[in-house]
Amino acid sequence: MTPGIRPLIAGNWKMNGNWRGARRLADAVRDMAPGLGARLLLCPPFLHVQAVAATLLGSTVAVGGQDCHPAGHGAHTGDIGAPMLRDAGATHVILGHSERRADHGESSALVARKCEAALEADLIPLVCVGETQAERDAGRAEEVVGRQLSESLPLGFITAGGIVAYEPVWAIGTGRTPTEADIAAMHSFMRRHLSQEFGPTAQMTRLLYGGSVKPSNAAAILALPDVDGALVGGASLVAEDFLAIARAVPEG
Ligand code: 13P
Repeated sequence: MTPGIRPLIAGNWKMNGNWRGARRLADAVRDMAPGLGARLLLCPPFLHVQAVAATLLGSTVAVGGQDCHPAGHGAHTGDIGAPMLRDAGATHVILGHSERRADHGESSALVARKCEAALEADLIPLVCVGETQAERDAGRAEEVVGRQLSESLPLGFITAGGIVAYEPVWAIGTGRTPTEADIAAMHSFMRRHLSQEFGPTAQMTRLLYGGSVKPSNAAAILALPDVDGALVGGASLVAEDFLAIARAVPEG
């Protein structure tokens, strides 16, 4: 945790669920959210953003998309613009997730343009960075993450409250996590890197950890310095597990 930053526990539902399940999951999270020390964010598939936002209306739980196009609107078949997400009730958007970088060949330059579109539409971007196993084995994890940060975050990202998630590619959906020392070292590196590039405001940027976060490892991870919350995939699809992770946030 970073003193003065309220931790955020974000659920990335990825390409899972149906309308009914999405409503049920959002309902359960909303009912258990009051009294939690952490802020909560749910990122359903595009198709369910509106239903989830309606379910969460009046609660403290926020809704986000999982991607957006760099243009606000236009002839881009199959894509979704940031203003459309905003219109559907989203306040946040995940950008540059490693699954999009891999499945859709998204470069950091494209992620930066998407961030600009999100900021323009008044959405808070949540940008993911992280190294592959081969890059970590080669001792290049910080170099890779540093370059992703430099190239993915546009001017204005930090002052607008942009969020960064460190998600080592090899830890996503595998049940494997870096050691606590490795997570702490990377988060401290990211804090220094952002402060050098963006100035002292970056001291208050939320830095999340993501990759196989579950109820059993959440408390240890969330207690680390410069870890200001978690981006949760699989465990966010089970309301009890997601809330157990949120409850593992240390008392601030
Ligand atoms: P898992 O929690 O399933 O490893 O996924 C992490 C993730 O990719 C969140 O964006």
